Amino acid sequence: KAKKKSSYEIETLTHWLLKQEQNGVIDSELTIVLSSISTACKQIASLVQRANISNLTGVQGAVNIQGEDQKKLDVISNEVFSSCLKSSGRTGIIASEEEDVPVAVEESFSGNYVVVFDPLDGSSNIDAAVSTGSIFGVYSPNDECLADIGDNPTLDQVTQRCVVGVCQPGNNLLAAGYCMYSSSVIFVITVGEGVYVFTLDPMYGEFVLTSEKVTIPRSGKIYSFNEGNYQMWDDKLKKYMDGLKDPGTSGKPYSARYIGSLVGDFHRTMLYGGIYGYPGDAKNKNGKLRLLYECAPMSFIVEQAGGKGSDGRQRVLDILPTEIHQRIPLYIGSVEEVDKVEKFLA
Ligand code: AHG
Ligand code: MN
Ligand code: MN
Ligand code: MN
Repeated sequence: KAKKKSSYEIETLTHWLLKQEQNGVIDSELTIVLSSISTACKQIASLVQRANISNLTGVQGAVNIQGEDQKKLDVISNEVFSSCLKSSGRTGIIASEEEDVPVAVEESFSGNYVVVFDPLDGSSNIDAAVSTGSIFGVYSPNDECLADIGDNPTLDQVTQRCVVGVCQPGNNLLAAGYCMYSSSVIFVITVGEGVYVFTLDPMYGEFVLTSEKVTIPRSGKIYSFNEGNYQMWDDKLKKYMDGLKDPGTSGKPYSARYIGSLVGDFHRTMLYGGIYGYPGDAKNKNGKLRLLYECAPMSFIVEQAGGKGSDGRQRVLDILPTEIHQRIPLYIGSVEEVDKVEKFLA
């Protein structure tokens, strides 16, 4: 007889992680890494929600390797993520949107996992208190990349080896997820057995399981593109986009929704269906989004939810990064919607 779940039986993320460990889906080291990531997200959530009060809006005054004006919270979120991961003792290498090169973590004494992250996604939204997020992915340790490096390697040698250790295809991801800082603080994670959604209960600062094995609708009439770039798109893409606006026989065109934060636009797409796209254009042929810590983690999640993540021609998870900040075009969401744009682009 199935054990009746008492209405007070609340499953926290901590409990869920321990269950995955008990079932052998993840090991105890990875459990600790993922738990430290959730702690970083809770700290960033509180920083973001009080940004205006603690004068943490606006720019830091530096430009990152992406050529973007770093927001104060870009820098602070990066520090929060880095220190939570370092103090986990199980992280070997980190690669971040806000770090020029990968960082070998000396504090790691076991586990040695490779963690890639975008500490604050959609940071242009911060000053207007519009949704932002953090994105992460975890790869298995790549010890051989630092093997026989010699007794006192130069920083450059270590960095070069770390780039090799970090540059793995999304197919190798052991875990991926994001935290969305919005009307609710939502933590979404997959460890390869479906997508689980947790909501932060601010009353006691725990992520509580609110939906399990989320699946994305196979189609959806919502598209999420920055159409400001329309003039620079190639003709095939323009034809696709024009078609979405044609009411056609149904008499109803697609709806446009664009928050300007990948985490927010993706989360809505996963729950409601539709497609998010950041195409290449005449100015930036690979578009804007970064493969390692934006496109690959989101593609792992969407596939676990029964959706599709493509660069317009191939599956994102099959792409081997050669440079940690490399960009690719991204089309992600409902299978039928991504299939449709791929047909136009063929
Ligand atoms: P980030 O803030 O981490 O640099 O990412 C911003 C990305 C993504 O979150 C968002 O979908 C996209 O940039 C918005 O770009 P545009 O402002 O060009 O539309
Ligand atoms: Mn940025
Ligand atoms: Mn981002
Ligand atoms: Mn970012």
